[in-house]
Amino acid sequence: MDSWLLMLLCLTAVSSCWAGCVEVESETEAVVGREFKIRCISCKKRGETKAITFVEWFFRAKADDAFRVIYYYQKDAPDIKDERYSGRLLWSGSNHTEDLQDVSIQITNVTEEDEGEYMCKVNRTLEFENHYYNINVSKFVQVTVVPKANRDVASIVSEIMMYVLIVVLTIWLVAEMVYCYRKIAAAGEETVLENASDYLAITSETKDNCLGVQAQE
Ligand SMILES: *[C@@H]1O[C@H](CO)[C@@H](O)[C@H](O)[C@H]1NC(C)=O
Ligand SMILES: *[C@@H]1O[C@H](CO)[C@@H](O)[C@H](O)[C@H]1NC(C)=O
Ligand SMILES: *[C@@H]1O[C@H](CO)[C@@H](O)[C@H](O)[C@H]1NC(C)=O
Ligand SMILES: *[C@@H]1O[C@H](CO)[C@@H](O)[C@H](O)[C@H]1NC(C)=O
Repeated sequence: MDSWLLMLLCLTAVSSCWAGCVEVESETEAVVGREFKIRCISCKKRGETKAITFVEWFFRAKADDAFRVIYYYQKDAPDIKDERYSGRLLWSGSNHTEDLQDVSIQITNVTEEDEGEYMCKVNRTLEFENHYYNINVSKFVQVTVVPKANRDVASIVSEIMMYVLIVVLTIWLVAEMVYCYRKIAAAGEETVLENASDYLAITSETKDNCLGVQAQE
């Protein structure tokens, strides 16, 4: 499903897709017991410059007033910093590169306690010929946890539309068939003959026209 969404975004924003990085917002509704990807993408503005990037993820539960670090990631080196998440966080971002742009993580088994605000803090060091330049980007994702998956309105509406369309088209098709059948049944051989003479009339007319044109030349 994610790849479809990405493809759709690519089609609508071809230019940014060619740059290789699109900052897609994270989904915000997690379902208890399922996995949930907290998406965080921070595109490098200067595509050609080499960069070294690491990310820290923070979490603030509803009751807490401060963010606490839960996860750290640097090339191929994940580190879960909070015991509430031990064994439950997987890396879901750019792989095998120091130059991270997708720094998403995945919670493997969502519980109600995972509800709250997440922050990804990206620290990127751009390497220029004779100096380094350090930038940090922070993004916030508000996650709600629901006991069961809610279907989104768009998918419900499109399903209803589909059924309505099928019913309407079927009725139309049947009506059209009945109409045509009646018309054919009502028409006798006379019509066939009539049509034949019409056809002949037209062809002789065109013949005349052709002769007329030739005569003018
Ligand atoms: C990186 O690898 C992990 C584990 O194999 C995978 O879940 C994740 O989707 C990969 N990331 C990307 C951006 O493909
Ligand atoms: C998910 O968490 C629940 C509650 O903590 C636990 O009972 C269950 O075994 C866990 N499932 C997996 C696949 O880890
Ligand atoms: C990024 O990380 C480097 C190295 O740890 C540190 O010196 C720098 O202050 C960090 N930058 C920001 C903006 O946090
Ligand atoms: C980046 O780091 C500076 C200090 O190093 C800080 O003042 C600023 O708020 C940070 N920006 C973000 C988006 O976190």
